[in-house]
Amino acid sequence: MKGIILAGGTGSRLHPLTLVTSKQLLPVYDKPMIFYPLSILKDAGIGEILIISTPMDTPRFEALLGKGNEYGLQLSYKVQPSPRGLAEAFTLGKEFIGDDTCAMILGDNIFYGSGLASKLKKAVSEAENGLATVFAYKVADPGRFGVVGFDEKGRPVSIEEKPLKPKSSYAVTGLYFYPAGVSKRAEKLRPSKRGEIEITDLTNTYLKEGNLRVERLGRGYKWIDAGTIESLRAASEFVRNKQKKTGKTVGSITGE
Ligand code: TTP
Repeated sequence: MKGIILAGGTGSRLHPLTLVTSKQLLPVYDKPMIFYPLSILKDAGIGEILIISTPMDTPRFEALLGKGNEYGLQLSYKVQPSPRGLAEAFTLGKEFIGDDTCAMILGDNIFYGSGLASKLKKAVSEAENGLATVFAYKVADPGRFGVVGFDEKGRPVSIEEKPLKPKSSYAVTGLYFYPAGVSKRAEKLRPSKRGEIEITDLTNTYLKEGNLRVERLGRGYKWIDAGTIESLRAASEFVRNKQKKTGKTVGSITGE
């Protein structure tokens, strides 16, 4: 399986911090933000990773991480000329992905939990069987995210992007696993009313076919979208506390 980190965007909610640097290069406690999603893909057993960012910032990521050899990774880079939406990762990454299955993670998403690695590996193997996986997490403000609707048996029946009336409190997090052929699907998507190629539209194609797994990350898991001043601060605090308590590095890409 291939992996993509989408680390572009405008970061407007973090202005002026992000006026001359990328959000995903800002510190989350003791390391740059992008280390966290990188460590998640590594935990999933994915070594071939494409980092997508803005024309201005892509060279900075390359300066920071290089070809990835010292981390046991194979990194490559691609520019997204403008932030046209999350699903554009799969059209920009078409050649990189080839006929393979592909995971994508947002560069500002932080995941933590002791059972996570096995959930990630399961998502990788299910993608080989033609099933897509997304992870859902209970939030207080679901209307800001893609929201999963469930039937009475707890099966996912809908995903709506930023709904005015959310059908549940479960937000779709920024980590997606898709079977082979995902680039072709992404190419068929048309921009939404807000002008973006929506990942929710892509995921819904799998849901409609009955080929989507929605894994709920319940108690014991933490998901932080570090895109606001408050969540960025909370992320730093979370990492600091966990590291002090467990003595283990959160977001390690060196295997330590
Ligand atoms: P957002 O946080 O939704 O957008 P943003 O980073 O531009 O921030 P703001 O809303 O404060 O202006 O994006 C989620 C992640 O996806 C983030 O890591 C940036 C990235 N992204 C891209 O790389 N390309 C895109 O086209 C979009 C929409 C987002």
